[in-house]
Amino acid sequence: MGANLRLVGAPSLSLDSDELARDYERISATRQFQSGQRLVADLGIMPGEHVLDLGCGTGLLAEHIAEIVGPQGRVVGVDPLPLRIELARSKRRPNLSFEVGDAYDLDMLQDSSFDVVVMNAVFHWFPEKTRPLLECARVLRPDGRVGIGTVLKGHRTRIHQIASKVLAEPPFDRFPRPRAQLVFPVDPEEMRAFFEITGFSPSLIEVRESTRMWPSPEAAIRFSEASSFGNFLGHLPTELRSRARTTIRLRLQNLMTADGIVHHGQRLVATAIRK
Ligand SMILES: C[S@@+](CC[C@H](N)C(=O)[O-])C[C@H]1O[C@@H](n2cnc3c(N)ncnc32)[C@H](O)[C@@H]1O
Repeated sequence: MGANLRLVGAPSLSLDSDELARDYERISATRQFQSGQRLVADLGIMPGEHVLDLGCGTGLLAEHIAEIVGPQGRVVGVDPLPLRIELARSKRRPNLSFEVGDAYDLDMLQDSSFDVVVMNAVFHWFPEKTRPLLECARVLRPDGRVGIGTVLKGHRTRIHQIASKVLAEPPFDRFPRPRAQLVFPVDPEEMRAFFEITGFSPSLIEVRESTRMWPSPEAAIRFSEASSFGNFLGHLPTELRSRARTTIRLRLQNLMTADGIVHHGQRLVATAIRK
């Protein structure tokens, strides 16, 4: 974890709370979980396989994978946020376990001990991509697969555009974020290059359409806070956070339609084989 914290602009791993973790569990069930299920299908995970769910959050997807691999298989979920791992542990069973850990340092996992590594909605949080991929290559057996579903570079939701505009205005601009964008997305060409320099052969690199809907401005803000484990407004002093939330909420009101706030976007899905 130390290695990650030293990277410039790395997200803080100390802004999470019980409330954010519980919100994530609830909100991701109709969002990240669904795209994660599709990624798992792309990877063709089979009964009996050993799977690492890296950046597993509260463990919904890991639980789904455990059903697929069955009693002869094994799923380990790893995430650096202790409160999310605490929630995930309520899903433990003989073939499913969870550990606090960081993609930059998976020393607790043995070489060549997994058939598949899944990273769903995680890769864009890595400021530096090669070390986590090298760790994935190390824990995978030869011909093992890695699957990544992530934010596409150049693609920002209207919600994040509006929030950035608000945060660039007084009084919030007195506390600038180290970087304007919270995440570190890649494009298909960069993804291919990262695979190739870390010992993987790409098997699928695809931009997919994705539509998201939030019933209200408040729901959109909660989603941003929970999925960024508090980093969305976490750079502001506490007393300014609720003011920022109110300003963003009022501006988001302009995006409301009869269906709520609807965002038609794209995301990047990639799978590769360990050479
Ligand atoms: C949006 S959540 C996705 C959670 C889960 N994979 C899912 O599909 O719902 C992003 C997760 O990435 C994790 N993450 C951030 N930095 C990480 C790192 N350096 N190593 C491992 N996981 C990390 C966060 O702790 C968080 O749980």
